[in-house]
Amino acid sequence: MPTTDTETGMAPDPTAERALLEQFDAIVERNDRVEPRDWMPEGYRKTLIRQVAQHAHSEIIGMQPEGNWISRAPSLRRKAILLAKVQDEAGHGLYLYSATETLGPSRQELTEMLLAGKQKYSSIFNYPTLSYADVGTIGWLVDGAAICNQVPLCRTSYGPYGRAMIRVCKEESFHQRQGYELLMTMMQGTDEQRAMVQESVNRFWWPALMMFGPPDDESPNTAQSMAWGIKRNTNDDLRQRFVDMSVPQAEALGVTLPDPELRWNEERGHHDFGQPDWDEFMQVVKGNGPCNAQRLAHRRRAHEDGAWVREAALAFADKSGGLDTPALVPREGYSTSETEEVR
Ligand SMILES: [Fe+2]
Ligand SMILES: [Fe+2]
Repeated sequence: MPTTDTETGMAPDPTAERALLEQFDAIVERNDRVEPRDWMPEGYRKTLIRQVAQHAHSEIIGMQPEGNWISRAPSLRRKAILLAKVQDEAGHGLYLYSATETLGPSRQELTEMLLAGKQKYSSIFNYPTLSYADVGTIGWLVDGAAICNQVPLCRTSYGPYGRAMIRVCKEESFHQRQGYELLMTMMQGTDEQRAMVQESVNRFWWPALMMFGPPDDESPNTAQSMAWGIKRNTNDDLRQRFVDMSVPQAEALGVTLPDPELRWNEERGHHDFGQPDWDEFMQVVKGNGPCNAQRLAHRRRAHEDGAWVREAALAFADKSGGLDTPALVPREGYSTSETEEVR
């Protein structure tokens, strides 16, 4: 085990640091996992904190556009599905905040950075949900894009992030299916329902393509992130994969994707497609999207309203002699891994 500077509290000398870097590079080269107590370059740690925190924030903020429809779901069945889905997103946020905490920052610091606008979340959640069809479209396209992004991240070089992704991806595929099934049901309904689905797809198609980030030639961090094994594919690669996957699904649904340039390219073996409005993307990232202010205000209010719960939990832990009390540790036989046997 290498002696880390966090253990000794001292900066390693240059020769020692070179040896540590070589060990780190070898782990990445072997496609092994880097674990929280391993030495890692500061840039690697910072990039991961930014990426995993942004991912955690996206899960939590992403609950809002759909949560908006829980009280107005058209049936008990739809309400149960939507509730389960939105709760899953809260769970994803928790796994990912825990993964980020293994890199240094506390949950409180992460929340403060989100609320201060110092860390971002996915731009897609700054668009409003205007009809119930949006619940279906978000499941199909937004969770679908998330799956494209996240399946390769199951092999990311940082252990806690990769392991969180494995679990998250299993749940995302349920999210995508429930969305697609809702849209399919609506497409078999009335003309009005079909029009509702088409209108919703028209609004979400381009923002969904933006979820993969700017084009590769405008994404300066991609090369380093790929060298570190944090990212496994470029933005444009993943966007192409998503378009190729969505076209036959749109055909099966009977909806038109709102891109006049979209067509199969025999030579490339992929679909050609148009570019999203990247100026709009930059505006949304900068905080000027249709719902940025509303999303953050809502999150801030929820955080303030929850202050008493945090205080009560701390007081309880304090009085019960810390977090090792039976009520706060997992039950015996509780397993967090689905492949592990529950005793
Ligand atoms: Fe999620
Ligand atoms: Fe999801």
